[in-house]
Amino acid sequence: EAAAVLAGRRLLLTAGPTVEDLDPVRYLGNRSSGRMGYAVAAEAQRLGMRVTLVSGPVNLPVPAGVERIAVRSAEQMLAAVTDRVAQSDLFIATAAVADFRPREASLEKIKKRGDGGLTLELVQNPDILAEVAARQDRPFVVGFAAETHEVERYARDKLERKRLDMIAANRVGEEGSGFDADCNALTVLWPEGRHEIARADKAQVARELLAVIAQRFRNRP
Ligand code: PMT
Repeated sequence: EAAAVLAGRRLLLTAGPTVEDLDPVRYLGNRSSGRMGYAVAAEAQRLGMRVTLVSGPVNLPVPAGVERIAVRSAEQMLAAVTDRVAQSDLFIATAAVADFRPREASLEKIKKRGDGGLTLELVQNPDILAEVAARQDRPFVVGFAAETHEVERYARDKLERKRLDMIAANRVGEEGSGFDADCNALTVLWPEGRHEIARADKAQVARELLAVIAQRFRNRP
């Protein structure tokens, strides 16, 4: 049973979107509500894990007993994760991290000039999941993958390329699951196997995901 394996262990997880400021009033963001990550945090806490949730801006209450660290940008999320990862047994990356940020955030509101458009220059953000997976003393590492098509092929590619222990893939861009929905469905992949989690509310999906993780965590080398 999952609790027997995971109770007392320390979980670090990321959740929600990251928000990349353009100026004092505008940002680049995405549609992550944080619900998937907060459901995993609440369920892990219920199993007796010690949970630290590094969260982008969302409108959700902090699950009871969970320590939340609020961040905004991908760089802030990376700094919070880097501070705590050495003390973690399990890392789960549910956050929808912005792959790019504006080269610089303007200190003043960007003004319209005539009828011309505006070109934004973006630079790549750090890959938090890849940085955790590349550590020598790494925890058991579970990534998420959000894909619109060929979900399993792209997810298995991420699993191998980033040398993850496990990846949970969801199809996005459809009504009723994924980003900003109450439900989700996951294809969970690890190097030697796979497990389907049928569409259900995110609390139920989180429960099943932690059960699958517990089995692999117990058998880890
Ligand atoms: O928040 P909800 O509204 O409940 O929606 C849940 C969800 C759809 C956001 C969630 O289930 C999900 O799929 N999260 C991952 C979304 C994502 O950005 O996937 P990706 O394929 O771009 O990234 C792959 C993995 O790398 C993810 O674990 C991501 O957290 C991580 N990553 C990506 C980029 C980056 N710079 N740093 C990262 O750590």
